[in-house]
Amino acid sequence: MKKKLLKTILNQIFLKHKLSKNHSEICSNYLIKAEVLEAKGHGLARLKMYCDRIKAKVINPKPKIKIKKISNSVSCVNADNSIGFVAADIGIKQAIKNAKKTGIGLVGVKNSGHYGLSTFYAEQAVKKNLMVFCFTNGPPAVAPHGSKKSLFGTNPICFGAPTGKIPFILDTSTSMINRGAIRRASKLGQKIPYGVALDRNGTITTDPNKALKGSQIPISTFRGSGLAWMVDILSGVLTGSSHSGKTKDPFDDFTGPQNMGHLFITINPKIFIGGNFLKEMKINVSRIKRLPKAKGFASILYPGERKNKTYRKNLNKDIFIPSKILKEINYLNAIK
Ligand SMILES: NC(=O)c1ccc[n+]([C@@H]2O[C@H](COP(=O)([O-])OP(=O)(O)OC[C@H]3O[C@@H](n4cnc5c(N)ncnc54)[C@H](O)[C@@H]3O)[C@@H](O)[C@H]2O)c1
Repeated sequence: MKKKLLKTILNQIFLKHKLSKNHSEICSNYLIKAEVLEAKGHGLARLKMYCDRIKAKVINPKPKIKIKKISNSVSCVNADNSIGFVAADIGIKQAIKNAKKTGIGLVGVKNSGHYGLSTFYAEQAVKKNLMVFCFTNGPPAVAPHGSKKSLFGTNPICFGAPTGKIPFILDTSTSMINRGAIRRASKLGQKIPYGVALDRNGTITTDPNKALKGSQIPISTFRGSGLAWMVDILSGVLTGSSHSGKTKDPFDDFTGPQNMGHLFITINPKIFIGGNFLKEMKINVSRIKRLPKAKGFASILYPGERKNKTYRKNLNKDIFIPSKILKEINYLNAIK
């Protein structure tokens, strides 16, 4: 489908679900961006879930979002159970403002929901020549090391820095695969890769439905579990949001809002070495890229480079929508 048409349809759907024009635009843009980046587990496959949660009154379509100033650097956003895209968009913009004023911005967001890709927010800070960390927790998916029961979300860690060229953006789940990819495979009747998830008996499975009832494997065993725990503390405990397995699954649990938390840290990279930062970054990247290549590698990529290429490759292409998801979109758009 042409992006322009898709955007009109998505806007219509969000407006019908009582979001404001501005909030509808934000949500439509991020869903389309996820598709363009080929992060399809965070794109249109989630649209129905957001709409179902609004209908069930567990996402507030008309939130009264409040930003509390704690200091010139630190702010707290109370998202009033808005859709996560909107809350996170406000959060990162405030973190950028704070860092521009003082050199460092720290913004906690509470009472939010699933915000999609951390890259969306990191890119905004890097475009303003800032370094950035983005964290969000999520519903139970990963078992803490030593436990049989999943409790941590796939809790992504995202770090961005300007390079003078394509931004460095490391944006990774702390699990072997993001949960969105498993949800989408389940919806479309596809298998998931071997070695990323266990069924409820602890056996490796490639069946997404068994994986959703079991647990996802963290990256690098106890290290990934530890990183997921760290993200839970930073975005859940620190911001006053749900944590330690209490974040509701957006697809399965409609008993209340997710009360999810996010944390954004923005840093002016000039604080220590002034204008030399970009010069040193260029040296850093080129030294690493010039290293002898391992077998099978023509080049060494830094995090963010491949996504940037994917984005540019797809920017002017139509978006392929599987028939099952297209049916959901048409159904939502037909609602009076
Ligand atoms: N909102 C949520 O609750 C939630 C939860 C989990 C993940 N996510 C999002 O899902 C998205 C996908 O996560 P993922 O873990 O599947 O990411 P991924 O595995 O596709 O990529 C992880 C990182 O590795 C880098 N990378 C990939 N190939 C590389 C290569 N050849 N050389 C060097 N670097 C390379 C990427 O640039 C990226 O920074 C992320 O944007 C993340 O924020 C969101």
